[in-house]
Amino acid sequence: MLDEIIRARRSIRKYSSKKVSFQNAIEICDVARFAPMAGNIFSLKLVIVSEKEKIKQLAEASQQPFIADASFIVVVCSETSKVARSYGMRGEKYARQQAGAAIQNMLLKITELGLASCWIGWFDDATVRRIIKAPSDADIEALLPVGYAAEKPRKIFKPDLKSIIFFEEWGKKEKK
Ligand SMILES: Cc1cc2nc3c(=O)[nH]c(=O)nc-3n(C[C@H](O)[C@H](O)[C@H](O)COP(=O)(O)O)c2cc1C
Repeated sequence: MLDEIIRARRSIRKYSSKKVSFQNAIEICDVARFAPMAGNIFSLKLVIVSEKEKIKQLAEASQQPFIADASFIVVVCSETSKVARSYGMRGEKYARQQAGAAIQNMLLKITELGLASCWIGWFDDATVRRIIKAPSDADIEALLPVGYAAEKPRKIFKPDLKSIIFFEEWGKKEKK
């Protein structure tokens, strides 16, 4: 069920040596297509990196060694200018948001397939761009390393519902 998958999705930072099938990489990328896009302008390109040496280079570009153990990495890129052409400055915001929506779709699919990942947003953009030979106007949004989990997710704080919702107005914590 959707609710179970949403709650089961967690960032996993240790992967086993068991290889994930390439078919799974395709299935994971496929769900990105169904994310909402402003004006239905699809602004993403996904680069699946499965060569060991390139995976290592991406781990170095992120200064996060655990990434090197992934079976493959999906590099999520935005063609932001496509959205900006229709929406100007606001298009840049939309490009970030729709990339996030697609990333979440993929993370949920990864969870449903019994696989593990972690949203990586910390990396050297220029280095990643060079490794995947992306054009200079492609914005690198995230790296999604994918593997089989070799650790249990740690217990972390998630806010309770009461602390994040207001009723009718900012600050109003009681429903009339
Ligand atoms: C925009 C963004 C960037 C992130 N970048 C990293 C990262 O570079 N490295 C990392 O280990 N986790 C990264 N994370 C994962 C968060 O640390 C993680 O989602 C958070 O601690 C909550 O844990 P959970 O995903 O298990 O619920 C990022 C998450 C987001 C949304």
